[in-house]
Amino acid sequence: MSTPDTTDHGQVFYHTNRLNGYDLVTVKAANYLLWRCPPTRLTEHYDKNVSGRHLDIGPGSGYYLDHCTFPIPDPSITLLDLNPDPLTFVSQRISRYHPTTVQADLLDDLPPIPNAPFDSIALNYVLHCLPEHPSGRQGVFARIKPLLSQGGVAFGSTVVTGGAPATFLSNAFNALYQRMGAFHNQNDTVDALHSALGQHFEDHVLEIRGSVVLFTARRPR
Ligand SMILES: C[S@@+](CC[C@H](N)C(=O)[O-])C[C@H]1O[C@@H](n2cnc3c(N)ncnc32)[C@H](O)[C@@H]1O
Repeated sequence: MSTPDTTDHGQVFYHTNRLNGYDLVTVKAANYLLWRCPPTRLTEHYDKNVSGRHLDIGPGSGYYLDHCTFPIPDPSITLLDLNPDPLTFVSQRISRYHPTTVQADLLDDLPPIPNAPFDSIALNYVLHCLPEHPSGRQGVFARIKPLLSQGGVAFGSTVVTGGAPATFLSNAFNALYQRMGAFHNQNDTVDALHSALGQHFEDHVLEIRGSVVLFTARRPR
């Protein structure tokens, strides 16, 4: 496992002590109260899109990997994260699947990823954590599309600050998390995501649920 520079990124918030409370605070409380996209909807999104050969980017606490239903009993799962703590935490949590781990920065050129190409790649609640890059979110999709098999699907969801319904609480917490450096979604809008996906995939579908956009993308350009 290579060890890239891990400073100056939203990933610094995902240390083991925080991951222990992540399901309760982020997956449940924040999703119901702030973003208004229940974890049941996100689990359904996983259920519909995960494959037997899956890459999970930024797995966090691994809640969805632990709760979703894979189409086969023994899926090949690869976890990619810049921070080693989620990799260790999730490897233990879903040890029944014997996942492979890769420490890599999604904002940089990716090293060779074992088990590629994948029939599904998840990017759930990762984009809004990534610092703004000169190439915008397009760079992320450009980096992951060569990892997708023909017929594969990239999917996920992200909290946006434009084009989706907001509330006093969602605006307040987006601003707070941006000040803390945990979120970098100041310029993330439904239109920007639509355009970034359209540049790299022939087909994509967006669904707005509260302040969250769920996406699926197929057929890399
Ligand atoms: C908000 S958590 C999402 C966790 C999980 N996918 C979920 O939906 O609950 C963001 C994850 O992205 C990872 N991450 C943040 N910046 C990254 C980067 N530049 N490269 C790779 N992973 C990154 C974090 O370490 C963390 O595991």
